[in-house]
Amino acid sequence: MKKTLPLAALALAILTLPTQSQAAPPARRHILMDAGWRFAPDVPAPIRDSVPLTAWRWRVGQADEAARMTAVGLDTATPGWKDAATGEDVFGGRVGLAWFHATLPASAAIDQARHRLLRFGGVDDNATVYLNGMKLIHHEGWNDSFDVPLDAAWKSGGPNILTVLVENTAGGGGITGPATLGVSADPSGGDPASPAFRDAAWRTVHLPHDYVIEGTFTPKGDPSHGSLIPTPAWYRKTFTLPASDRGKALWLDFDGVYRDATVTLNGVTLGTHPSGYTPFRFDISRVAHYGGTNVLAVHTNAQHEEGWWYEGGGIYRHVWLTVADPIHIAPWGTFVSTKMPEPTPGQPLAPATVTVRTTVVNQSPQSQKPFVGFIVTGPNGASLARLLPVPRPLLPGASLTMSQTFEIRNPSLWSIENPQMYRAEVAILNGAPQDDGPSRSVGLATSFRVAHLIDATDTPFGIRTIRFDAERGFFLNGRPVKIKGTCNHQDFAGVGVAMPDSLLYWRVKKLKAMGSNAYRMSHNPPTSELLDACDRLGMLVMDENRHLGDTEDGKASQNTPYADLHEVQSMVLRDRNHPSVIMWSMCNEEGIQGTAHGRDIFAAMKRTVDAADGTRPVTCAMNGGYDSADGITSVEDLQGINYNPGAYDGFHRAHPAMPLYGSETASEVATRGIYGPDNFKIDGIPYLGDQAKGYISAYDLHAPGWAQTAEAAWQPIADRPYVAGGYVWTGFDYKGEPTPFGWPDVNSNFGIMDECGFPKDSYYYYQSVWGDKPIVHLLPHWNWAGKEGRPITVWAYSNAARVALSLNGKSLGTKDMPRNGHLEWSVPYAPGTLTATGYDSAGKVMATDKVETTGAPAALRLSTDRATLQTDGEDLTMVEVDVVDAHGRVVPTADTLVSFTVKGAGRIRGVGNGDPSSHEPDQAGQRRAFGGKCLVIVGAGDRPGGITLTANAPGLQPAALPLEAR
Ligand code: GAL
Repeated sequence: MKKTLPLAALALAILTLPTQSQAAPPARRHILMDAGWRFAPDVPAPIRDSVPLTAWRWRVGQADEAARMTAVGLDTATPGWKDAATGEDVFGGRVGLAWFHATLPASAAIDQARHRLLRFGGVDDNATVYLNGMKLIHHEGWNDSFDVPLDAAWKSGGPNILTVLVENTAGGGGITGPATLGVSADPSGGDPASPAFRDAAWRTVHLPHDYVIEGTFTPKGDPSHGSLIPTPAWYRKTFTLPASDRGKALWLDFDGVYRDATVTLNGVTLGTHPSGYTPFRFDISRVAHYGGTNVLAVHTNAQHEEGWWYEGGGIYRHVWLTVADPIHIAPWGTFVSTKMPEPTPGQPLAPATVTVRTTVVNQSPQSQKPFVGFIVTGPNGASLARLLPVPRPLLPGASLTMSQTFEIRNPSLWSIENPQMYRAEVAILNGAPQDDGPSRSVGLATSFRVAHLIDATDTPFGIRTIRFDAERGFFLNGRPVKIKGTCNHQDFAGVGVAMPDSLLYWRVKKLKAMGSNAYRMSHNPPTSELLDACDRLGMLVMDENRHLGDTEDGKASQNTPYADLHEVQSMVLRDRNHPSVIMWSMCNEEGIQGTAHGRDIFAAMKRTVDAADGTRPVTCAMNGGYDSADGITSVEDLQGINYNPGAYDGFHRAHPAMPLYGSETASEVATRGIYGPDNFKIDGIPYLGDQAKGYISAYDLHAPGWAQTAEAAWQPIADRPYVAGGYVWTGFDYKGEPTPFGWPDVNSNFGIMDECGFPKDSYYYYQSVWGDKPIVHLLPHWNWAGKEGRPITVWAYSNAARVALSLNGKSLGTKDMPRNGHLEWSVPYAPGTLTATGYDSAGKVMATDKVETTGAPAALRLSTDRATLQTDGEDLTMVEVDVVDAHGRVVPTADTLVSFTVKGAGRIRGVGNGDPSSHEPDQAGQRRAFGGKCLVIVGAGDRPGGITLTANAPGLQPAALPLEAR
């Protein structure tokens, strides 16, 4: 039943919610543009009639001399000019500029052709290319090939004078790759950005899409990026708009494109966006075709790295089209903030004050004086509302921020255990409300619903209090909460960075089931749907900007400009309504973190963040520099320390008023199901595992030099109330960064779960120290044929007081469980059953676990936690594939090749097995098991119906799983 919340003293009206089923047309259309894209890799077109360009004149360059250097008739026989060959390093480590000059070879075939071009194999670092004095192209990057179309400045009969300004930012530089003059022999004969281009031969894809994951692993690829080769690509999409949209406001939102996106609509370039992690938006109202067809083209180039992990490539997040009235709520223009006295456990809650701030834009040619309606609805469906006239006429092109405050008594708080959400609906009404009903509220409600509704948005939010205490850590709603967090990159087995919403949700659920309560968006702003999942599931978030100071590459340098901080601003404007977000992180491990320069950039960013939000602390993740008086520490709200738990006490003593947390902890390396067999050293660090295969044992023994094992990282945090908690590197394995190996590993080994979400043994360590359920977990598995009588190291994780171990019913003794640690036995191997029993301090059994020697693989088993999928073209489900023996026990050593077929209204979206050195493709219909398991991801399409997944392996009983799309 609907309940009405008490209103504040001056409450004006209680309204029912506006419903779109009323007579008025929908106020705005927010259209998901994910379906029906055409896709093709941007492979260089073949060139015909090619002539190599090998000899250049060059000289040291200065800024601002382009006019002189590109002038027709420039004499390069004058002093300062020298000869250079293609491939020559003319900088020799000098940072700066150089001019290159060449007369293009005369060729009748080229002169008479169209689509003449010059192909550079590489210019180190950045190139600006002129022909006959006309600037043709500016290219950034040092190692990729690019084409310069020449027709626009070509002089028939010649001479054609080419000038290239090369900028070197580090190391050597020059025109490093071969340069070739020729004619494009592209059979499509055209530019995919042009509306006339025919893309019928291209593949149709549904977003989110990652094309780099479709490639082949190769030692030629960069191991830090997953040993796949990133390339440029094209996307095109055709859509229609009704003639009635003319005069409206229309914009396109790209939630994330990796990377260097250039977006063209109907042949007009809307703009470019370099970063692969931040959202961007284009107003298309002047370029759109109304009552006709629109052609959208997006060029992406995944070749430039922003990070040091697998980054994918393509339009890997959603694209939206919004069609709104010219008078509308600005994008990200609603900000709901809540305030209440911190609750005292056991005491009644004080009322919460909710402030809804809305920015209204007038894009119409006339002045407007609209009304703005606010409705706030609680988790129980009760709502309260206000209607306000804008205080002054909104001039054409102007915007205005309106604010309304509600008081909510006895608020339903958002928490980790019970993440209750409210909604703020904001509506714009054109003209005065009809106020002639029997009561004012009825009159307002009528207007709101029917008469003049011209725009509306819906913003979920939550009410909670957060506080970081320098002595006692983090408080949520007045209760201390230790942050039990994980850091995560955004990719997953099978799909790469193209993560459908339901997979994001699934991963957060997996982390919660481990006892984790916090998620660090390392090292970039996430997609909004991941924050929605964290809101809905009760997961605290460290939301993170990509770089210090909006730079687009690696790390901020000494000269990083920071006048323009739109990237961090966009993150905060977009994400500030999510109750899950508890801190804003500006950057990670920046070289200048301990310097005054780093401090100044950070301070400017913090001002930007505070201006857009002001309700959460601003922090960053530092791996040094926190003992400097001049660095970021002197201006941030919260200190994040990466690794180095030995620094906690010293920092706390030196900064007793500064709250502290482990922004990155552990970095244990382990491979699921591996417990030997070799001892080897890498960089002087001893490891147990299988060096040739790139596996590390899953006993929690190993971490690289800068890092700690799971136990060594968590104990110092657990023991110190002033450390608010920490974020383990990482919750899931990800592609790239295959520390401590390189090739053949293509995945990281840091995950608590592997790339498919299958738990490694440390998952149970975290369950035992973070979770609230009784648990015992034994490792390793118990299939050690050939090792009979030889000692096997056995570990147990548990939150019991004592654990008893027995083999085949014979007791091997009982041990007291150390706090936040593990138990260890050496057990002479005999096949059979090893059992652990956990007792509480009163001697009552709390939990048990066993590992059994299995028989040979006999059958396949399929299981999923969700068998019904939505028909949105995107939804998918994870299907675990187990290789089991005749008794249904997973065979932990099985590496059987399993092949899949899907019949009905679905398809395979990807496969994986968590093996860090598997080079089997992620996009395939088969996969080898690893440690007895593999994963097949099944997706629905856009039509309802039954789906049957079948798994087969030679000599094994097949398995089938019914699923349904609806
Ligand atoms: C950190 C870094 C992470 C990851 C990690 C591996 O220093 O912030 O991105 O590289 O090391 O241990």
